[in-house]
Amino acid sequence: SALQALLQKQERMTRQDLVTLLSLTDPEELQALYDAAYAVKAEKVGRVDYYRGLIEFSNRCIKNCCYCGIRRDNEEVERFDTVRQDILDMAQWTYDAGYGSLTLQSGERQDPEFIDYVEALIRDLKKIGNGGLGLTVCVGEQTEETYRRWFNAGAHRYLLRIETSNPDLYATLHPQDGHHLWQVRCDCLKMLRRIGYQVGTGDMIGLPGQTVEDLAADIQFYKDMDIDMIGMGPYVVHHHTPIGQAVVAAGLDSEADKLNRLHLGLKMIAVTRLYLQDVNIAATTALQALHPLGRELGLKAGANILMPIVTLPQFRAQYLLYDNKPCVDEHAEQCRNCLSARVASVGDRVGLGQWGDSPHFFEKN
Ligand code: 5AD
Ligand code: SF4
Repeated sequence: SALQALLQKQERMTRQDLVTLLSLTDPEELQALYDAAYAVKAEKVGRVDYYRGLIEFSNRCIKNCCYCGIRRDNEEVERFDTVRQDILDMAQWTYDAGYGSLTLQSGERQDPEFIDYVEALIRDLKKIGNGGLGLTVCVGEQTEETYRRWFNAGAHRYLLRIETSNPDLYATLHPQDGHHLWQVRCDCLKMLRRIGYQVGTGDMIGLPGQTVEDLAADIQFYKDMDIDMIGMGPYVVHHHTPIGQAVVAAGLDSEADKLNRLHLGLKMIAVTRLYLQDVNIAATTALQALHPLGRELGLKAGANILMPIVTLPQFRAQYLLYDNKPCVDEHAEQCRNCLSARVASVGDRVGLGQWGDSPHFFEKN
């Protein structure tokens, strides 16, 4: 059929092909898309899903992104910092649990104390298991010098979502204060690549004002930037943000709207897998905010990475970027058991004790 021919084009797909696939709605056609993407996953990265234990160590943020629950102006949020030794203990737990890698995330800060703190923390984290723990850092926009210091300290992956590849749409989602510039974000991705990181990016899917053409362009952006890892997920309303309130007021957050964003999120995973082939793609927690089986569906649509939350239980409720975030009442052990059951239900296995780096990174190096 025409759809089968299109699915077989894979990395040769045009922008219009991407748009066509992202616009599918027929359940049988969607299943064909997910099956084709899962087959590419099986061939290029294997039916093995890797864990990146996620430590959200502080919710302080200098940014004011209009969609995000921990934006600077949200005074309802109680700000926290995790005690250094607690971070190291959680990281040791992560290593002992056989998670190959850790993701160190917080809000964005650029003060020298923070930069020094993160650098020293990275050095200590790399001592665990004699450098046995893969380490992804995810703390926003920094100078090239800072990125280089952290790389030299032992971080080898960095995750910075472009949020959208459309600068005009980006501008509608951020304050126009000179500190939320699309071009700066894009330049950061180029610096990270130059320094030698495995570079991750991604978008939010189903944003107000975002078109299917924008989403197709995001996937082409990943390709043009030669990205190694994709972390993307549906936009989910946070009730106490300007964008969240506008979306609710416009009547755009019905159950049908949420399901629509979930399905768009799954289609993005599948089409990205078909088009980029050998990159790592995360089934993110936001999928599960919209559907109890969201992350399993992500794995079946071609994702191969899960990020079990390792954050201390007492801080989880203070790290809410969006409403209905799952796993807030759980602790790390429960998240481990829950996710391994999810992986098994898909018919994959967990790549324990391995870093699970993006094969794409080594293809070009
Ligand atoms: N819905 C979905 N994702 C969000 N993020 C921030 N706010 C939201 C939201 N309301 C994502 C952004 C950011 C990442 C850490 O979390 O893409 O890069
Ligand atoms: Fe800060 Fe990131 Fe939220 Fe923006 S999305 S306000 S940078 S935590």
